[in-house]
Amino acid sequence: MEKEHDDKLRIWSESPADTEELGVILGSILQPGDLFFLSGELGSGKTLMVRGVTAGLKSEELATSPTFALVHRYEGELPLYHLDLYRLSEPGELEPLALEELMEEEAAIMIEWGDSAKEILSSSYMEIEFLRGENDNQRIITFCPFGEHYRRINRLIYEKITYEIRNFK
Ligand SMILES: Nc1ncnc2c1ncn2[C@@H]1O[C@H](COP(=O)(O)OP(=O)(O)OP(=O)(O)O)[C@@H](O)[C@H]1O
Ligand SMILES: [Mg+2]
Repeated sequence: MEKEHDDKLRIWSESPADTEELGVILGSILQPGDLFFLSGELGSGKTLMVRGVTAGLKSEELATSPTFALVHRYEGELPLYHLDLYRLSEPGELEPLALEELMEEEAAIMIEWGDSAKEILSSSYMEIEFLRGENDNQRIITFCPFGEHYRRINRLIYEKITYEIRNFK
């Protein structure tokens, strides 16, 4: 893993394991009410990162791509709602999900393909962008914070990664 730091935090993942490990680090930082949108093309690594987050939260069940439901709740040190709205055909289908109510819970929320949900939720959130790199196993992962709380999360992730690189590589 390599890193670069300003307001945004950009991380070069060199393998699926790198991306999952980044999720584990994120899981150790998450707090109730935290809201993350994950964007990037099919197969760019969004679900794999959420899987790492569930591992970091010590959930018995690890996140996978949902086959049917749009929302799945994982129980761990902090509950995590994982939403994948890829199959949403019109914004009206969001209503039964009662996203505003999820936001009130003592849980964190990570949403794939969530553009349609962005307007109705908070103006403060983290957007994580996933891009494919030059080779098959490379992904460029950019944490874009909206609001001071999420800038602080970026500083924490940066510190944790720096610490891991110094001690384990
Ligand atoms: N550095 C990497 N980080 C993440 N995934 C990687 C990496 N290199 C290769 N891969 C592969 O890319 C795929 C990522 O799949 P994943 O389901 O996480 O994507 P996704 O962004 O959630 O896709 P979708 O939009 O279909 O939900 C996996 O097959 C994984 O093994
Ligand atoms: Mg996915």
